[in-house]
Amino acid sequence: MQVLKKLLLLGQGQIGSALAEDLSEFPVHRWTGDLDDLSRTEIARIAPDVIINAAGKTGLEWCERNAREAVRSNLEAPVRLYGRIREAAPEARFIHFSSGCVWDGPYREDGNAFTPDVPPTPACLYSWTKAAADAMLLDLDPAHIAILRPRQVYSSHRHPRNMLAKLQTYASLIDTPNSVSSIEVIAKTVRYLLNAEASMVNSGASMVNPEGWTGVWNVYDRGTITPFEIGELLWNAGLRGRPERISKAALDAFHKPKRVDTVLFDRRFERAVQPEEVHTVLARTIAAWKESPALVTHD
Ligand SMILES: NC(=O)c1ccc[n+]([C@@H]2O[C@H](COP(=O)([O-])OP(=O)(O)OC[C@H]3O[C@@H](n4cnc5c(N)ncnc54)[C@H](OP(=O)(O)O)[C@@H]3O)[C@@H](O)[C@H]2O)c1
Repeated sequence: MQVLKKLLLLGQGQIGSALAEDLSEFPVHRWTGDLDDLSRTEIARIAPDVIINAAGKTGLEWCERNAREAVRSNLEAPVRLYGRIREAAPEARFIHFSSGCVWDGPYREDGNAFTPDVPPTPACLYSWTKAAADAMLLDLDPAHIAILRPRQVYSSHRHPRNMLAKLQTYASLIDTPNSVSSIEVIAKTVRYLLNAEASMVNSGASMVNPEGWTGVWNVYDRGTITPFEIGELLWNAGLRGRPERISKAALDAFHKPKRVDTVLFDRRFERAVQPEEVHTVLARTIAAWKESPALVTHD
């Protein structure tokens, strides 16, 4: 019989709350305090098998205005915490949420999508904090850390960080291809990582799973879509007024910090997780969103 791993989940926002619900068959301990207050003693007491860090400062403008705190929460605190984890729970695995926003696209100069091995090209402080944390964590311990890079997260749950909630409110939307990540594909990826790690530990060998579970994983619904297309889907569902198109250049002229467009690709992720096609997931999610309470509509 497989013994379920004990999880320590950090972060009470959109992703942390959704994961707590989705992974409810696991013994999940949720840390509600600051990352810097999670002591060695507390980690040793909880004795987690896997720590999932979904805590961080996520507002792009907020990070620019509060740079010191953004650097502390997104870079310093996770790196310091990882040092304490290694001492208090030396065998524990660490799954850290980064972001596909570390790249400024939508595509690379050669026209290809961003793959996990491509060096980040951060366009704002938030992205710099995420890219720097990834680099430092992997430098500290490439053997125990997986870095997840989702983009524009959405679900049928009402949450101010939900991409659908944001795209309900903007009158004009750009028509540039992007990757987006449903909570469903994020949860499926975390499950894959938990199970992949289990097979390695149970067998007592490190190379049983040839895909491995460590390193950087791009996490997205398969294919691409544009914010304008999503706005039209919401309009068709009666959830907002008809969007207008705005060019990227016009948006960049007033949107500070710059909004990045990013298209992700990850062969290992697609093979392991088999993500559903983005239009399929979005259609299902928007239908469920429409039925969920506290509907906000815009004429
Ligand atoms: N949502 C997306 O579209 C998206 C896309 C790509 C990557 N990500 C990454 O995924 C992770 C989770 O995102 P999310 O959407 O769940 O964000 P979220 O809804 O903003 O939640 C983040 C949570 O972390 C908390 N937090 C911030 N600093 C902390 C600290 N020093 N110690 C403890 N908690 C702290 C926040 O509390 P306060 O509200 O009090 O600050 C908030 O509850 C983040 O690392 C983010 O960069 C998100």
